[in-house]
Amino acid sequence: TAADKGAYPFFMLKEIDEQAIVTRTLIEHYFVNGLPHINEKIIQAIKQSDRLYIVAAGTSYHAGLIGRRFFEKWAGIPTETHIASEFAYDRPIISKKPFFIFISQSGETADSIQVLDFVQKESYPSLTISNVMNSTLTRESDFALPILAGPEIAVASTKAYTAQIMTQVILAAAIAGGHSELQEELSRLAIDLQAEIDGKEKIKQIADKYLVNANRTFYIGRGADADSTLEAALKLKEISYTLVEGFAAGELKHGTISLIEQATPVIGLISQSKMAGLTRSNLEETMARGAKAVTIVTKNLATKDDDIILPALTGEMEMFGPILEAIPIQLLAYYTSLGRNLDVDHPRNLAKSVTVQ
Ligand code: G6P
Repeated sequence: TAADKGAYPFFMLKEIDEQAIVTRTLIEHYFVNGLPHINEKIIQAIKQSDRLYIVAAGTSYHAGLIGRRFFEKWAGIPTETHIASEFAYDRPIISKKPFFIFISQSGETADSIQVLDFVQKESYPSLTISNVMNSTLTRESDFALPILAGPEIAVASTKAYTAQIMTQVILAAAIAGGHSELQEELSRLAIDLQAEIDGKEKIKQIADKYLVNANRTFYIGRGADADSTLEAALKLKEISYTLVEGFAAGELKHGTISLIEQATPVIGLISQSKMAGLTRSNLEETMARGAKAVTIVTKNLATKDDDIILPALTGEMEMFGPILEAIPIQLLAYYTSLGRNLDVDHPRNLAKSVTVQ
């Protein structure tokens, strides 16, 4: 109802705005005496496994792609992220001691439930990371962890996405045996997310200027930023009804560059220092062919000519790039949909939770 939205025109904007608060809620819930605290049974079960299989759909799958990096780099466990509808019928070789992690906002996605049925038949251990603790997936898997985002009403997922990533970050740190600076880093992240949210007017201007009238848009990035382009593209396409593709920047020259026309927007996500220069060269290549390049870049890698400058992330904290990128990619989608006079919260043909295969 309109009352629940308060002063907001759409739930999506309200839910984007809640992401700093959700971050603080996660810190309060998951930290004890400054250290990440997760049920010891979950930690032991994961430590006994030789490989993690993250299974999810849609935005939750994208959160799983980002989470994979933390399980590998922090916890040192080989991790694969799979699309549920694919895994159900076209499975990879499964390791000797697998552990399955389902990520699902609703906990009711049929594609993921189908995989859980298989996992249980094989007696493999499983955990569901979800926003709904009395859902089918949380009830039927061995373990469950809440993402504590609060009800998400808009069809396009926003706060659940960042909360799913952060819950995986906390879990990975707990497996690794604590991470004494993580609480402070997440607290700083909450402040940074709020600063980004408060800067939304700038994002609206960029959406109005470059995206509202474009019929195709490309997102490029490398490393964790490449994963982030997939969610950026999904968000923008699902509520703007324009064609949007997100992919690893190095692949541009292997095909998509032929689609660049005068004023085609190409948005570069840049938060990984090792690869920043390469992504910038790729943006220049598109500009040479008439594209309008837009940069979304962390402050430590930015120049004064960049378009959207995110808070700085240095050293290991570069891994948080996709979390900071979530706010502008969500706001760009929101304002593009708004500028095209669409029903932001109810995109055609889509459902909040898909309970059919
Ligand atoms: C639907 C929603 C998406 C969501 C996906 C997976 O397609 O529109 O926003 O990411 O389902 O849903 P889940 O509840 O499993 O995260």
